Amino acid sequence: MRLLGIETSCDETSAAIVEDGRKVLSNAIYTQIDTHKLYGGVVPEIASRKHIEKISAVVDQAFADAGLAFHDIDGVAVTYGPGLVGALLCGVSYAKSFAYALKKPLVKVHHIKGHIAANYLSHPELEPPFLCLVVSGGHSHIIEVSDYNAYHIVAQTRDDAAGEAFDKVARVIGLPYPGGSQMDRLAKRGDGTKLDFPRVHFPDSLDFSFSGLKTAVINYIHRIEQRYDVKVSLLGDTDVITREMFEGNGVKQHAPLVTKADLAASFTRAVVDILVENTIKTALEKNYRTIALAGGVACNSFLRDAMKQVGEQHGISVCYPEPVFCTDNAAMIASMGYYLLKSGETCGLDLNAVPYISIEK
Ligand code: KG4
Ligand code: ZN
Repeated sequence: MRLLGIETSCDETSAAIVEDGRKVLSNAIYTQIDTHKLYGGVVPEIASRKHIEKISAVVDQAFADAGLAFHDIDGVAVTYGPGLVGALLCGVSYAKSFAYALKKPLVKVHHIKGHIAANYLSHPELEPPFLCLVVSGGHSHIIEVSDYNAYHIVAQTRDDAAGEAFDKVARVIGLPYPGGSQMDRLAKRGDGTKLDFPRVHFPDSLDFSFSGLKTAVINYIHRIEQRYDVKVSLLGDTDVITREMFEGNGVKQHAPLVTKADLAASFTRAVVDILVENTIKTALEKNYRTIALAGGVACNSFLRDAMKQVGEQHGISVCYPEPVFCTDNAAMIASMGYYLLKSGETCGLDLNAVPYISIEK
C-alpha cells in the first residue's frame, strides 16, 4: 500500500510517498527557513502564504522522485493538527481536493504521532510497545506507545518545550533561526562543565520545566554583559566572554574564562541531563527495553549520545530517526497514515484543521 503524505503544520511544505508505512519512495521538502530567518522566528501568516505557493510543486516533486503517477497511490494522509491553524489548513485543503479528485481514501494524522512514526522509517524492525521521548519546537513529552495508535502521556513540559528553549537561548547569543541545530554545532566547540545551570525536578512527577533554565542562561548573559561591557551576540564562538576584573586597590581578580561555546555546551548539558534522567527513570519504572527519540530536538548529537550511553548501562536499546525524518517532513505522516488506514481509520471531506489536540484522543 502506497500513501501520499502531506505536512504543512509549521514552516516546512512537504509531500512524500511511503510504501507499507516503512519504505520511503520520496520525501520532498520545501523549507521556509530563509524567509522566517529575517524575523527571528516563524511568522504564521507568511507561513500560510508560502504553503499555498509551494504545495502543488512539492507534491509534483514527490511523485516525480518516486517515479509514480497520481493514480498509483492508495490513499492520502495529511497532518490536521496540532500546529499553526492557517498553515495546517493549506495541507488539509489540498489533501481533501486530491483525495476527492482521485477517489482515494483520506486519513488524518496527528503531527506528534507522525514524529513518533518517523522511527519506523529508520528502524524497520521497531514495533510497539516502546517508550518515546518526543522533543520538538512545541512538545516535550514522554509517551508510552503501546500499539501503532495507542498512546499514554507519562510526563510533559509544564512551560517551554525543549526546542523552544534551544531557539530562545540561541537567539540571545546571536545564532540565526532556527537556533537548535546551530547550538548543537557551537556546543561541540565548548566545555559543558564550565557553568552549572539549574535542572528542575518535581517531587511526584517526571514532568519537565525549561523556562527557569532559559531565564537562568539569559540572566547570566545579561550579568556578564553589564560586568564586562561585552555584547555576547557579537562575539565569535571561542572568544572569551568573561575578562579579568580589577579591584580599586589594584589587586587582580580572575573570573572563570568562559567562551560562547562553553555557554552553549553548558546549557545543552542541562537540557540533555534532565531529558535523559526522566526518560530512563520512566523506562525502568515501567519496564521498557526500548526507547525511541522523536521530533526536531532528537537531531541533537548530545541527546542522542547521552541517551544511548545511559540506556546501554541499563540494558535499554535506544533508537532515533535519521535527521531528515526528525524535523518536520511528510514521510513520517505517510508512515503513520498507513497504520491508520490499515485499521480502517479514514475520515470524510469535512475534515478541518485543529491547532490543539491531545495525542491520547
Ligand atoms: O519537530 P520540529 O521540526 O518542529 C516542531 O514540530 O516543532 O522541531 C523543530 C525544533 C526547533 O526548535 C529546532 O531548533 C530544534 O527542533 N532542533 C534542534 C536540533 N535540530 C533541530 N534542537 C537541538 N539540537 C539540534 N540539533
Ligand atoms: Zn514537528
